[in-house]
Amino acid sequence: MIVSVIGVGYLGAVHAAAMAELGHDVIGLDVDSGRVAAMQAGRAPFHEPGFEEILRRGLAAGRLRFTTDYAEIAHADVHFLGLGTPQRADGFGADLRSLEAAVASLAAVLPARGGGPTLVVGKSTVPAGTARRLRAQLTAVPGADLMWNPEFLREGFAVQDTLAPDRLVYGVAEPETPAADAQVAMLDAVYARLIAGEVPRLVMGFETAELVKVSANAFLATKISFINAIAELCEATGGDVTDVARAIGMDDRIGGKFLRAGIGFGGGCLPKDIRAFIASAEDLGVGEALGFLREVDAVNQRRRVRVVEIARELLGDLAGQRITVLGAAFKPDSDDVRDSPALEVVSRLMSAGAHVTVTDPEALDNAAKRVPGLVGEPHTEQALAGAELVLLLTEWREYRGLDPVRVRNLVAAPRMIDGRNVLDPGAWRDEGWEIRSLGRGAGPANGTSVVDGPVARPDLPIPA
Ligand code: UDX
Repeated sequence: MIVSVIGVGYLGAVHAAAMAELGHDVIGLDVDSGRVAAMQAGRAPFHEPGFEEILRRGLAAGRLRFTTDYAEIAHADVHFLGLGTPQRADGFGADLRSLEAAVASLAAVLPARGGGPTLVVGKSTVPAGTARRLRAQLTAVPGADLMWNPEFLREGFAVQDTLAPDRLVYGVAEPETPAADAQVAMLDAVYARLIAGEVPRLVMGFETAELVKVSANAFLATKISFINAIAELCEATGGDVTDVARAIGMDDRIGGKFLRAGIGFGGGCLPKDIRAFIASAEDLGVGEALGFLREVDAVNQRRRVRVVEIARELLGDLAGQRITVLGAAFKPDSDDVRDSPALEVVSRLMSAGAHVTVTDPEALDNAAKRVPGLVGEPHTEQALAGAELVLLLTEWREYRGLDPVRVRNLVAAPRMIDGRNVLDPGAWRDEGWEIRSLGRGAGPANGTSVVDGPVARPDLPIPA
């Protein structure tokens, strides 16, 4: 089949290359000519394991190319919409302008195809009601219709998640009608290899499909903020949140995934998606239903502030102190720094007058663009040299495996804040480190060395 992907940002770029991998003829379109040129030359504009390989394979096989010109995609059978839906500048809602503009540009060129069936398939994360509105933009185009097929890919696993997803969700305007059946058959043909591999496929109405995606992200964010809220309780009581997470996660009904307490969630999706979900519920007159998501957001923001407080507890005034931060990306195996908790902590430390050196295997260039004056050092050992305090804020494999003895010989003072709960505090303490973690009680119950000990909380039990 001939397939176009409009918007080759993170989602669209991976989708385009993955569709070529499935054997389709794919044209990726973007208004950013620099990005189009890079991808046409086989260069990935972001770090994503396995992506550059399928990009180059698609280009070499002649099944994948990129353009900025809508006229070149007019003849495709299926058009995927992979455009970004960022947070609006004036509030919590999603900015849908690029999506609306793309559908308008597409509608203008589609008549050139001569009226054969054309399927437009939205993949972006959008508030419920968006698909129906976009479909109205296509009513004047003979043969064209729209489906919504939300994307659930995680950065770092994007290729795998696209080619072997947990499920495919198809949203249609009017389920169980001949028109919907024909559209489902067309999209099934695009995903034939996945469906043959027994990936479950669920068909539902537009609004339900849109809600599936935002609900999934809201649930994941809630799970993370839940455990981070418990981390606050652990800090107040001397409990250990990693043990709480391990123990509650053994209950199948709860499950152990997404219960890693630390400096919280960031990235281009979860933070803006929960805010857009809140705004959408308010617009629909059911704001109260999602009031708890404001608290999910607030817990998440508090963790970033808490790390800086712990730094103050360890060093006193931060002005002039040499601090090394391990990690700038919002999570490991990514060079994405959008709403990165690590980078926000860096900015706060810099504002407090600390001399901060940041290291990260992939994200330093992007970090430097976001934080003016940022001092980046790509080599971990050089970054650590002379530090009065080290903060581990993104759990890249190489930081998880750091040797406390070797690092102690590099730094000026063996003090560590483990913002992701990935180091073994006992092992580091045994080597002379003062180590603080989030939610692993500064209290005596954990034997943590305490500078400004925990506030006594007689109302809460201290575990033995
Ligand atoms: C997320 C969703 O997982 C994905 O399904 C959706 O399509 C897009 O948004 P992504 O942004 O790639 O994917 O990151 P994810 O792996 O979900 O992590 C999000 C953030 O949560 C990261 O900052 C990560 O460090 C943090 N996180 C994750 C935790 O703090 N604790 C956890 O237990 C898990």
